[in-house]
Amino acid sequence: MISVHRLSKRRVIASIILGSILFLNVNMHVLERDRILEIHRELTQALEGGDCSIDPLSEFTTPSAETKRTLLTSYPGGKRFAWLVISALTNHDVADDWNFSGKLDENVLTLKTSWPHEDSTWSWNDQMDQTILLIRNPRWAIPAYHTMRYELDFAVDFASSLVRIPFLYTIRPAVEVWEAWRDENFETEMDAYIDHINYWMEGGRDQTTGEISTHCSENKIDCRPKEILDFDTFYKENPDTEFYKLGTLLDETFSGPESSVEVLAAQARVCALDKVYDTPELLHDNSRTIGPLSPQFRFTSTQLQIMEDRLIETKNKYLPLVTNKLEEDLVYTLTRYIKLLNAEKTVQLQIESQE
Ligand SMILES: *[C@@H]1O[C@H](CO)[C@@H](O)[C@H](O)[C@H]1NC(C)=O
Repeated sequence: MISVHRLSKRRVIASIILGSILFLNVNMHVLERDRILEIHRELTQALEGGDCSIDPLSEFTTPSAETKRTLLTSYPGGKRFAWLVISALTNHDVADDWNFSGKLDENVLTLKTSWPHEDSTWSWNDQMDQTILLIRNPRWAIPAYHTMRYELDFAVDFASSLVRIPFLYTIRPAVEVWEAWRDENFETEMDAYIDHINYWMEGGRDQTTGEISTHCSENKIDCRPKEILDFDTFYKENPDTEFYKLGTLLDETFSGPESSVEVLAAQARVCALDKVYDTPELLHDNSRTIGPLSPQFRFTSTQLQIMEDRLIETKNKYLPLVTNKLEEDLVYTLTRYIKLLNAEKTVQLQIESQE
């Protein structure tokens, strides 16, 4: 049973909003940000029997100073769903490294970043305590990153970014645009993708110097992830292992007496997941209407082969360490991606042979 006290608890979904937007200085975007926050700020209320409702936000709490802060790190692009669910479960915003949320200085509970990808910045100094690594099949992660870059019109200056903002999440690049970008950036982005995983798995090891980054050694943050979540499993209508893993981690993180965060009651969590999934305007990815669907953003069979090889190499690197839960989870997920890549490569070869 959920107590009356719980019934009155306000649960916020929402936050990140244009979280994946890079290059942008929040001060330039206050108006747009406010508008979006207004639309998307909703709260999840636990009701009796595990039902939940999403109502307009009426209050918002700041976590106490002692509460653990979690850094959510992933290769950039297209993981809004995960941030929204985390917001819904914790009743707190997820801020972002570019401070697009404007919350960077507010000692936020969770902050998302793509560090050490070049489209990210270690802007939070010593504010964070622990890390969650979110990964996604590069076959989807790289096109999602490109789409985000495209929507910003490859903006290098703020003026053009501002002009493009209304189009964010509404248009997709044409397939030819994707292919040109892909062929030029494939190697770089594959390197960045693998480096990102290695950096965090190795507790913040700079893949160029081989040293642990001072960001990790000189700040209190534990750069070795507490958990790895597979976005492709997470982003589903029905809760799967990744969703339960997250719930458990949040419980562990916020169970201490010093914590001021109350994680959404277990029985209402699945309901919150449903509500986020079923609210298309929260999920910009789902509301893109113009342009080809993401399955049309393909890779050549050669590129799929390279992708597969890089993942096999990474899997083999961590295979000897699978007695650790973290390595076990990584290897499990990479194995899944490798199978999918292999299957797609076979189809792609057939397509190419008919061309
Ligand atoms: C983040 O944004 C807020 C709100 O615009 C601003 O007050 C704050 O100074 C920004 N912090 C940083 C580090 O840019």
